[in-house]
Amino acid sequence: MALTASLVDIARKSHYENVYLSRIGAFDCYGDRVVCDVTKPPGIPLVMDVDTGTDDAVCIAAATLCSDAVDLIGIGTVCGNVGIEHTSRNTIDLVDFLGCDVPVHVGAAQPLTRRLSPAISHGATGLGDVVLPAAHRDYAAGGVPGMIVSAARRNPGALEVLAVGPLTNVATALIEHPELRSTLKRITVMGGAIRGGNMTLASEFNFHCDPEAARIVFESGCDLTMVGLDVTLKPELPRRVFDRINASPGRAADIVGRVLDFMMRRKEEFGADEPNLHDVIALAAIVQPSLFSFETYYVHLETGGEITRGMTIADFNNVSGKPPNAHVAVDIDVDGFWNWFVDLFGAVK
Ligand code: BDR
Ligand code: CA
Repeated sequence: MALTASLVDIARKSHYENVYLSRIGAFDCYGDRVVCDVTKPPGIPLVMDVDTGTDDAVCIAAATLCSDAVDLIGIGTVCGNVGIEHTSRNTIDLVDFLGCDVPVHVGAAQPLTRRLSPAISHGATGLGDVVLPAAHRDYAAGGVPGMIVSAARRNPGALEVLAVGPLTNVATALIEHPELRSTLKRITVMGGAIRGGNMTLASEFNFHCDPEAARIVFESGCDLTMVGLDVTLKPELPRRVFDRINASPGRAADIVGRVLDFMMRRKEEFGADEPNLHDVIALAAIVQPSLFSFETYYVHLETGGEITRGMTIADFNNVSGKPPNAHVAVDIDVDGFWNWFVDLFGAVK
């Protein structure tokens, strides 16, 4: 109780009371009393790998509000939407702004074997025209593979990885620490599609960016969930959701409202994508799996070809004879997803 009370004191003195209190997790606060709810199950131990990025920022903000469901242990950054300096800076500035004390580790500056071709739709810095105050802290020491392996050792058989950028860091971790193949509980990726693409006719951006890394992850034998364009293109940000987020209190709703505003404008101003929130949909697949339909396939990662680089091909007819390697999200309850999303931000006191 003494420890918990001191955590609450710290939170009360903090500008970020909501976030710190939410990270206390299993404790409810009534005035000055703190009650430990021993019946509350612990959250899923989770590390995230991000290339922040507009929709990555929305995903990170949402993850910090999911403390009932997940225990966010660390965040790794990777090049993708923009260069590593920007994806890392955006990530640490964002978590600092949110008052979230999760360590941020800097990861790969280039794909495994190729040179980065950044996306255009996130603007020059990755956050469109949204500007965050500079963080008052440094990156955590050590790279992303080391962070993942250390988190896995502390949570044997329980650690989940949510990767919403190119899979360079995750593939490197699996190569450098092969034991992760049996000690991770699951890897959930935003990427790929068993039908269509957004980078070429056939491939999705994250896997097109580093197809060799994606192939390593798909061939790793890890329990893998693929949340690709088959579902992430379905929810297109409705105006009513935008308005609800902007009417919600707290720093997470504030920053997400600003990012969504950029996303709503960018199609007209930048000729870029529809306001699809890809990455947070992969988070929803972890914390709200009942919103999705999944099918299990052997998924081949194509690494070459003008159009097929990064393409994911599901073996619908078991032509390869290979056992399934991925649970593929094939459908989503779009209304249910938006309800979960607005409730998450609206629930902040
Ligand atoms: C993916 O590509 C990136 O631009 C987004 O952040 C998302 O992770 C969608 O194809
Ligand atoms: Ca991303």
